[in-house]
Amino acid sequence: MNKLDLFQGVFENKKVLITGHTGFKGSWMAIWLRELGAEVYGYSLEPYTYRDNFVSTNLATKINHRIGDVRDQNALLNYFQEVKPDFAFHLAAQPLVIESYSKPHYNFETNLMGTVNFFEAVRNCPSVKVAINVTTDKCYKNNEWLWGYRENDPMGGDDPYSASKGCSELITHSYIKSFFEKKGSANVASGRAGNVIGGGDWAENRILPDIIRSYINNEELEIRNINSVRPWQFVLEPIFGYLKLSEKLWLEGKSFSGGWNFGPKDLGNYSVGDVVDEVKKGIPTLQVSSPKTHEKLHEAGLLKLDITKAVNLLDWKPKLTFEETIQLTVQGYLDEINEQDIYTSRVKQIESYCLK
Ligand SMILES: NC(=O)c1ccc[n+]([C@@H]2O[C@H](COP(=O)([O-])OP(=O)(O)OC[C@H]3O[C@@H](n4cnc5c(N)ncnc54)[C@H](O)[C@@H]3O)[C@@H](O)[C@H]2O)c1
Repeated sequence: MNKLDLFQGVFENKKVLITGHTGFKGSWMAIWLRELGAEVYGYSLEPYTYRDNFVSTNLATKINHRIGDVRDQNALLNYFQEVKPDFAFHLAAQPLVIESYSKPHYNFETNLMGTVNFFEAVRNCPSVKVAINVTTDKCYKNNEWLWGYRENDPMGGDDPYSASKGCSELITHSYIKSFFEKKGSANVASGRAGNVIGGGDWAENRILPDIIRSYINNEELEIRNINSVRPWQFVLEPIFGYLKLSEKLWLEGKSFSGGWNFGPKDLGNYSVGDVVDEVKKGIPTLQVSSPKTHEKLHEAGLLKLDITKAVNLLDWKPKLTFEETIQLTVQGYLDEINEQDIYTSRVKQIESYCLK
């Protein structure tokens, strides 16, 4: 019995194609699927840096992959037709709000036409039985309210990134209604999750990578927004959700089509200061200059997901406490710093996650 298999064995010996496999989430997903006995294929741009999870885990030698642009409709379609996957996951995207302001055209091209090209490839590749588009909590029209957003709330987005993900959801809906309701067509859904953390993410301007960089450089980190509250979610939580959703689509079919939220537990509103305190348990020498106060502020624009649908229908729920989330994240980075075999380290984390 494979300890990592929480999915009734549906991925064993199946071909799974992931767009965005060189990215943070895509590389973690590729590792889990490989360990489940799937034949994993990837299509995306080159990794950004030598530190990326895809590079440090040496995934290029462990899965089949092609470097290509999702804006290139023919190249993506050709790759699908060559591979003939059973499952397809679309994670390739321009994923940053800040970048979407400096490159709005590129952002919309990648996130809209990339999604269209993905579904065109699925539509023209009859081997695909299940396809999932990965979007974000930011796809919802943000009403600045305290309640969680439900799957049937309206799409929206003020900044170019959020708008592009709202559009990506509308494209998914349109493809389901127009092409994927027919018998024999692929079973299609989308997964909406918020920001995630975990080893292997080295993006700029994010708190966990910033903390780890300051530790490596032996520098004091100045944190201005120490009281900011964020939903802290470990990278494996939504990936568990996407895989659970695809298991249901594979075994039970089109009744699982449509949008699904995969948010964190309501963990009592932990702040950046709480994260720093928790990180210090693993890295006691961490130096942070901003004093922590006990006042916790509600962030304007904070978007919460209502996860009732996934919890009730998918046999999925977030597994980790806040403390476990930070501990696993810090351990993932420390293994990199200590030059462990990173692939094995990631597999161990997936194993301990599955045992929760
Ligand atoms: N990381 C998060 O906290 C988070 C939160 C919500 C949603 N998401 C979504 O999850 C998905 C994966 O995000 P991530 O954090 O792994 O991002 P990432 O930046 O680490 O990875 C993005 C991947 O997409 C690929 N890509 C980007 N533009 C491409 C193009 N034009 N053609 C082909 N490939 C391209 C990159 O090569 C990379 O493999 C994205 O759709 C993102 O919007 C991520």
